[in-house]
Amino acid sequence: MSQDKPWGGRFSEPTDAFVERFTASVGFDQRMYTADIRGSIAHATMLEKAGILSADERQRIIDGLNAIKAECDAGAFVWSVKLEDVHMNIESRLTDRIGLTGKKLHTGRSRNDQVATDIRLYVRDEIDVLCSEIRRLQIGILDVAEREAGTIMPGFTHLQTAQPVTFGHHLMAWFEMLQRDHGRLSDCRKRLNLCPLGAAALAGTTYPIDRALTAALLGFDKPTENSLDSVSDRDFAIELCAAASLIMTHLSRFSEELVLWTSSQFDFIDLPDRFCTGSSIMPQKKHPDVPELVRGKSGRVTGHLVSLLMLMKGQPLAYNKDNQEDKEPLFDTLDTVRDCLKAYADMVPAIKPKKAKMYEAAARGYATATDLADYLVKKGLPFRDAHEVVGKSVAFGIKEGRDLSQLTLIELRQFSPMINDDVYQVLSLEGSVNARNHIGGTAPTQVRAAIARARALL
Ligand code: ARG
Repeated sequence: MSQDKPWGGRFSEPTDAFVERFTASVGFDQRMYTADIRGSIAHATMLEKAGILSADERQRIIDGLNAIKAECDAGAFVWSVKLEDVHMNIESRLTDRIGLTGKKLHTGRSRNDQVATDIRLYVRDEIDVLCSEIRRLQIGILDVAEREAGTIMPGFTHLQTAQPVTFGHHLMAWFEMLQRDHGRLSDCRKRLNLCPLGAAALAGTTYPIDRALTAALLGFDKPTENSLDSVSDRDFAIELCAAASLIMTHLSRFSEELVLWTSSQFDFIDLPDRFCTGSSIMPQKKHPDVPELVRGKSGRVTGHLVSLLMLMKGQPLAYNKDNQEDKEPLFDTLDTVRDCLKAYADMVPAIKPKKAKMYEAAARGYATATDLADYLVKKGLPFRDAHEVVGKSVAFGIKEGRDLSQLTLIELRQFSPMINDDVYQVLSLEGSVNARNHIGGTAPTQVRAAIARARALL
């Protein structure tokens, strides 16, 4: 073979040294070696069943591949840019180790269906890791939510105090977002779990291959339908990055809340020192670095989603070298989301709510104004009139520097004679949260019921 390239036969001069580096992917696709070897073992097994390899050849190939896997696991494999990618590095090493039989492995396949298979296998394993990290985080959330099912804090709209909620209820909102994220990943996994092997370069192969067998050996549900689509489809990578972008968007929103809540202006929670860092100049500082960094990293994951969409949008069928560009955004997405989920799963159970501060803040912001309006409606006043009465009461409270619950009955009755001393129960924070007693409401009994349903779901 000219210039030691597996494809060197028709070439008359060596590849330009820069072009060799420019076109190589081995620097980043070597991480798929386990998937590549697994795919090759399945392919060799199928080739023997189909009568294309002898049993002895199949066995020598499989033994050789297992030995190469051990070299890779041990970090002893020497990757060569001259051999371009993970596929040709491993195939070439196989021939070094077992001789001519190694050259038969590539019968009936192409790197195009090989790489499409490898990425699917790789992403499938990573999805399983992400799903279990999401579960770990969700369980952490449920544990804290259970402890804090009755802890009162202000609920916000427009970041202004709106109505009292419980901290457990707030955390259960996070749980719901993650539940959808888990569903999206599982959905993506289902759609990617088809085997492209057999599509070969683009049109299929002339050998009597058994695609159903390779698919089954690799844990795929079945072979893909169309050979052209098989080698060129990267929808699953885009779907994964879309699901990942939403996960990161959620983590970024949680982060924003943690950052706000640890500030001395809110002072709602404490994060343990092991999740924070200090300032090199201001000795008093403790920074919520982990949430800040997660919030920051959400940007690059969404960037990767857009990269992949742009990568695919102009490509004609079937395989194009452009597709090699799918790996770095995809891998960085998987690494980033995995680390961020890990950080959150470790950190969330360690969040320490400052209950007194939360309670005080809820007591300060006229959070029970809606409850007073509802009280008047129940006494027969139309809601719009009740809204007006309460608005005036709040304005009076602001002028006096007191919350609604701190106004006397005489003061309150200037705005409506319908107000009686049973109003104070309604104006209390406990009365307010307990009154929202229906599925999805913030009443502590409902939060506990939601947690029980969530536990049953997991
Ligand atoms: N390194 C290539 C990739 O990542 C493998 C497939 C190359 N196929 C080819 N005909 N050049 O996409």
